[in-house]
Amino acid sequence: MMQNNMNVDESLYIIQPPQRVSDGSYINSIEKYKELYNESINSPITFWGEQANKFLTWFSPFTDVSIGNLSQGDIGWFLNGKLNVSYNCIDRHLQENRDKVAIIFEGDEPNRVQKITYYELYLQVCRLANLLLSLGVKKGDTVAIYLPNTPDAIYSMLACARIGAVHSVIFGGFGVEAIISRIEDSHSKIIITADEGMRGGRSIPLKKNIDSAVYHCKFVEKVLVFKNTGGNIQWNAEKDLWAQEAMQEQRPYCPPVQMDSEDPLFLLYTSGSTGKPKGLLHTQAGYLLYAAMTHRYVFDYRDSDIYACVADVGWITGHSYIVYGPLCNGATTFIFEGTPMYPNASRYWDMIERHRITQFYTAPTAIRSLMKFSVDMVEKHDRSSLRVLGSVGEPINPEAWRWYNQYVGQGQCAIVDTYWQTETGGHIITPLPGATPTKPGSATLPFFGIQLAILDPQTGQLQEETKSEGVLVLTQPWPGMARTIYKSHSRYLDTYMRPYPGYYFTGDGVSRDQDGYYWISGRVDDVINVSGHRLGTAELESALVGCSSCAEAAVIGYPHDIKGQGILAFVTLKHGYQEDEQTITLLKMEVRNTIGAFATPDRIIITPSLPKTRSGKIMRRILRKIASNESSPEQLGDLSTLAEPETVQYLINKVKSN
Ligand code: PRX
Repeated sequence: MMQNNMNVDESLYIIQPPQRVSDGSYINSIEKYKELYNESINSPITFWGEQANKFLTWFSPFTDVSIGNLSQGDIGWFLNGKLNVSYNCIDRHLQENRDKVAIIFEGDEPNRVQKITYYELYLQVCRLANLLLSLGVKKGDTVAIYLPNTPDAIYSMLACARIGAVHSVIFGGFGVEAIISRIEDSHSKIIITADEGMRGGRSIPLKKNIDSAVYHCKFVEKVLVFKNTGGNIQWNAEKDLWAQEAMQEQRPYCPPVQMDSEDPLFLLYTSGSTGKPKGLLHTQAGYLLYAAMTHRYVFDYRDSDIYACVADVGWITGHSYIVYGPLCNGATTFIFEGTPMYPNASRYWDMIERHRITQFYTAPTAIRSLMKFSVDMVEKHDRSSLRVLGSVGEPINPEAWRWYNQYVGQGQCAIVDTYWQTETGGHIITPLPGATPTKPGSATLPFFGIQLAILDPQTGQLQEETKSEGVLVLTQPWPGMARTIYKSHSRYLDTYMRPYPGYYFTGDGVSRDQDGYYWISGRVDDVINVSGHRLGTAELESALVGCSSCAEAAVIGYPHDIKGQGILAFVTLKHGYQEDEQTITLLKMEVRNTIGAFATPDRIIITPSLPKTRSGKIMRRILRKIASNESSPEQLGDLSTLAEPETVQYLINKVKSN
């Protein structure tokens, strides 16, 4: 079970920040955190106005700090200010730090290491920005990016930002259908991709997937292709263009466009509980400020650090904490193409030693899979450079937290369990390394400017007691929040602002302990979290139903030792199909091809029928209990509303024997 078990009272274990981390940190005591936090809540206008001037360089100043509220969903920050995100992430560092390493890249093979200085980054971004301009990309156009986790992805994002194009990064693990739906929704006429990606010694056919997608999306005009592996690819002379070659023909100077604070910066699609993925839209100034500020304080970033986030740029973690936050702060940021298991389970620790990494940021699923190996795999590498160890993406179970702390950090590092979402732009609940006493399994306390509340999920009533549980909401807007869902503002309001009027609804369950610490229990909607990847059950079901054998499907998450949650699909077959190995394999393949390998169901249970109410609604509550082996009559509760109660017993037997 990955959820925090409050029965053993984890809330009583408190670990003080290590002295070596507190010494010299920006926020070096809990009192200082509280003082600043109170200031941020009591005088938000002054607080955020000061931060925006401290962290960002403006072409012309903003006139108002903020506008709008959560009830109306009409939020804006730093109004009328003009800036450029790529200027903030590159140009302004050149004067003093032209030769500082901006990016350290490690490819899938450990010997593929590349270091890129701020000046080199500048030249590449300018060339690519000019290339995009020459292809007719204009301010406000969307550009789709489907790349491996390499510096090319960073160049592409910043080149878009430089000319005011809106990037839409599509995670390299997504399959063809997922690419099509994203390109169609954002109507991206330009796609940036690579020949292939590499992960764990295996190549990923990125260009091939794009070819299939472009075949469906006739409006795509150009496909820019970065050479990454040199593998064989099909070439469409009319649309395809080698990126590096074409960039060489461009001038390495491209003036940054003046953008308004509230102009769109990027779209990032994420799963919700219903329907197709939502294109969350983040804007320029508020997002950048929030990413930079959280990066500085949550990782206690200092100028000489070598900071590493091993996420993928295809997810929000990569956007905020590989690219925008660190580069805005002038940091050396690390980007890693491969996996923690290749060439062996020491890879992370080997990289930490090789580059003298100071902050390391990964996901609980990786920690859990690495814990299975002998600690010798960790200990044979020098980790003395480390100061802060971060966790993100799902609740971290206390056992994994302790392993991370004891074996990786040797009890000498701060562990920051950072809770946030694609929608929040940056961390919203997190310890600060030098200040916050931690409790294994708790994301601890809100970041500056973040006001949290817990509501009763049914009545929406505010839970005023310190110790309480319910659903997590935010009570005030913050600069990093997504402003809308692309072309679906009403869906934005319905999803986040209307479930509990006056609040932003996170979709997560939470409890708060006697010390006011927050413990996230996981999603309360039909979203599942598989290895830190967020997947809507509706999306998975619609992929399964795309398979010719499938009549109906119901997908649920179940507790999984490594992944946090595994995917279990209950499927009824169409007439003429039978339950056998081949049918199950084809069903899995359908999901793999439609969404991507990471979404492949772990288990498929074929059943003659699904438990439904008399009005035809699938009773997922019951399926979840059956899948978690909580299937005694008391645990299952009232079954009287079911149309065919015998289905339940059938499924209980089947899950047990499967
Ligand atoms: O359920 C929460 C979980 O991940 C969801 C957000 O997913 P996504 O938008 O893909 O962003 C992931 C990276 C920020 C949340 O609603 N989640 C994320 N971090 C944590 C977490 N759950 C518990 N603890 C965390 N630290």
